[in-house]
Amino acid sequence: MLIPSYLVNEQFDDRYFDVVNALDEAQQIYFRNNNLIERIIMGIESKTPFIIGETGFGAGRVVLSLMEFMEKSGLKNVSIEYNSVELYPLSPERMLDILNGFKDRVGEGIHTLVEAYRSIDISVSGWHSMKIQQSFGTLEINLWIGEALEMVNALEKLCDVWFLDGHSPKKNPSIWRPELLMEIGEKTKTGGTCATFTVAGAVKSALISAGFTLKKLPGCGGKNEVLHGVKG
Ligand SMILES: C[S@@+](CC[C@H](N)C(=O)[O-])C[C@H]1O[C@@H](n2cnc3c(N)ncnc32)[C@H](O)[C@@H]1O
Repeated sequence: MLIPSYLVNEQFDDRYFDVVNALDEAQQIYFRNNNLIERIIMGIESKTPFIIGETGFGAGRVVLSLMEFMEKSGLKNVSIEYNSVELYPLSPERMLDILNGFKDRVGEGIHTLVEAYRSIDISVSGWHSMKIQQSFGTLEINLWIGEALEMVNALEKLCDVWFLDGHSPKKNPSIWRPELLMEIGEKTKTGGTCATFTVAGAVKSALISAGFTLKKLPGCGGKNEVLHGVKG
């Protein structure tokens, strides 16, 4: 299948995501497989923010999908801190072009997210904060511009869950390197989880060494099985 060039990250010769299934894919792999709703309800009850880490912000499709997922949940008073990282930040215009593939489904969310992204200066390295108010509550996106290991080292809080979404291990082994996944394990709460679309052997070994107990769970679209880990 010919992949539209605007969907391909030229740094890695790999696409950001499959535009047809990408919102549903994120909801299955990263949200449902991680029991996000049940865990977020526990956060509302204990008045503690739910803390997410992501490797690979890209065009923001996962966070856009999360906005839709949470809006549909009907929950209120939710507080989510979404920590992500991007080494090669897209311009807001390119991000909009990419996300517009979903405009019939989540047009308002795209506008909100791209305007928030436009307000930060992506030419400056380090943390950038975007606070988005939605009907479900508050979504605070903390985006680190720079390399993933720097971001993980700079994180001051432990995450409830990690979304590992950094291109295929064949195209981009560096975002799956054991040293980085080990630090991600260190920055995960006991009982916290991680999820990723890849089931590559090297990724599994590095996640096990980082303290995660792994199992395969249902994927979405072309992926029958994906990985889920629980930090011991
Ligand atoms: C598959 S894309 C992410 C897709 C994104 N989650 C989305 O939904 O739009 C992976 C992203 O990770 C970024 N990336 C790759 N290696 C990185 C690294 N070592 N540190 C930080 N970002 C990296 C790439 O530039 C790319 O934007």
